[in-house]
Amino acid sequence: MDNHGILEMTKMNYDTNRPNAKNPIKIQDVSLRDGHQSIFATRGRTEDMIPVAKMLDEVGFYSLEAWGGATFDVMHRFLNEDPWERIRTLKKHITKTPLSMLLRGQNLVGYRNYADDVVEAFVQRACDNGIDIFRIFDALNDFRNFETAVKIVKKNGKHFQGTICYSLTEPRMGGETYNIDYYLEKAKQLEKMGADSICIKDMAGLIAPYDAYNLIVALKKQTDIPLHLHTHFTSGMADLTLLKAIEAGVDIIDTCMSPYAYRTSHPAVEPLVISLLGTNRDSGFDINKLAEISKKMEEVIPKYKHLLDDTKNAIIDINVILHQTPGGMLSNLVNQLRQMDALDKLNDVFEALPKVRKELGQVPLVTPTSQIVGTQTVNNVLFDEDESYTNITEQVKDLCFGLYGKTTLPIDEAVQKKALQNYPRGEKPISVRPGDTLKAEMPQVHADFKDLAKDMDDEVLCALYPVTGKRFLKWKYGLAEVPADVKPKTMTEVEATNELVQKALSGKLTDKTDAPDKPANAQAFDVFVDGEYFKVEVADSVSRQKSGKKKKAKKAEVVSGNDIVAPIPGMIVEFKKKVGDEVKVGETIVVLEAMKMFNNLDAKVDGVIKEIKFDTGDSVAKGDVIVEIG
Ligand code: CO
Repeated sequence: MDNHGILEMTKMNYDTNRPNAKNPIKIQDVSLRDGHQSIFATRGRTEDMIPVAKMLDEVGFYSLEAWGGATFDVMHRFLNEDPWERIRTLKKHITKTPLSMLLRGQNLVGYRNYADDVVEAFVQRACDNGIDIFRIFDALNDFRNFETAVKIVKKNGKHFQGTICYSLTEPRMGGETYNIDYYLEKAKQLEKMGADSICIKDMAGLIAPYDAYNLIVALKKQTDIPLHLHTHFTSGMADLTLLKAIEAGVDIIDTCMSPYAYRTSHPAVEPLVISLLGTNRDSGFDINKLAEISKKMEEVIPKYKHLLDDTKNAIIDINVILHQTPGGMLSNLVNQLRQMDALDKLNDVFEALPKVRKELGQVPLVTPTSQIVGTQTVNNVLFDEDESYTNITEQVKDLCFGLYGKTTLPIDEAVQKKALQNYPRGEKPISVRPGDTLKAEMPQVHADFKDLAKDMDDEVLCALYPVTGKRFLKWKYGLAEVPADVKPKTMTEVEATNELVQKALSGKLTDKTDAPDKPANAQAFDVFVDGEYFKVEVADSVSRQKSGKKKKAKKAEVVSGNDIVAPIPGMIVEFKKKVGDEVKVGETIVVLEAMKMFNNLDAKVDGVIKEIKFDTGDSVAKGDVIVEIG
């Protein structure tokens, strides 16, 4: 391609038997992973994918992305589905098109760095179960975090797609850090590692059309490895960006089928196919086949419609353009502030964010670094008065220690020193590959779960998610009752619910006389019905009884300042102490997971643990007394 980005019109024959284009664009469909992850909170169920799996296989996609990211977490946590089973099921229906997954380097599909033996076991099982292409990324673009995963991918003869997370500090590519040289240098490193293709992964929809054009042109001059562009529609630029990247010669792009496209998801494939028809980059796809798939997909959409954020008329988020931060991170910040009754601080958070990010090493903002920087910024805005960084999250301490890898710029020395005060791994940060510092984990997992885990897939699940993994295996093997809220809903149930909602909206449901007392730990959900916002609090009868007891217990006593109280809503991951233990000020008593971050709750006084009021795995509301210290 030479002609300054204008595509050649090669033929005027537009029928489905049209001859192949000179350099057809290759397209990966991501509806079954990133599509529903982006707009339906990853809640897509396997049963709703099966009807279209075979149809998708017939289109001629380069690959189908169907696993990884949040799917593994959400499936076993919220859907009562075995994540491994999904690959095997889809593989039965998809026999021609390679299946791909997204892998967070040494974080796999979790939120921390796992030891090498966990990485090896996970990637091996992903290969065995049917993943063909591994898109591997690291939130810090520290490719040492790929090494172990790549070794196993290569050993199995699978495709290693090396990924560069796209990040910005300015409205457009450039500035001191994330400029074109940064990306060219990263691509060189991936080539050296033996990447079979290179992906520019723009999870926030930040990449502007001409930046994509210039970047692809520059990369094409530097390397012959196929280039793959992944961008999100969030800011509204993605269709333009894909077109410019195609003109620049990008080899592969990511799109969704139209029912899963746009908003924070990806451009739809259908308009792109028509736009390129008859050019030298014609995909060759049959538009009628695509239409049939979209129609089929629409049949299950009512099951997920309630998950769609429809509060605004605009389907783009210009905040992304204004703040250069991922949409998911923004909604996390808003949720976090809302839960702490501090939504009025949102602008302060936006203002503080660039400073905190710079102090923490100007890291790219990707899962999990986006949450790490976001949560710490919220903490600073809410808790700092005379001093800064008064409430440092465990993840920030780990980042300062070097446990996530090398940050783009050095971390602010004063912040680092403060974060590593009394840090259990040591006060001096490491500079080696983080995986080198972690001891093998699988033997302990094997011992801990030997009564529950029946095979390697079960064990790996528990290695990644000890609390929710264990809970899932109990459901899977009939050792615990499956709660109603994780069970699939039929279309009839969905229709009945919608009818109820309609009645409620029109004021026809007014009888509230037999409503039970609201339990203390009712879970709050944000529900959007036809653009209207409802805060719905849900409690099942079991938790109602349990929390009723707890509520009474709470009423009978005065909450003392010594007690450990949940500062934010979350799930209890671990108790570091038991009843009767003596504790000292500053000792960690409880680990609470909130917004996917672990928060250590420390003793505020010396004393003895009098009572522990919850179990691990329990959800707690803000203000719940978790542990009494006397
Ligand atoms: Co994405």
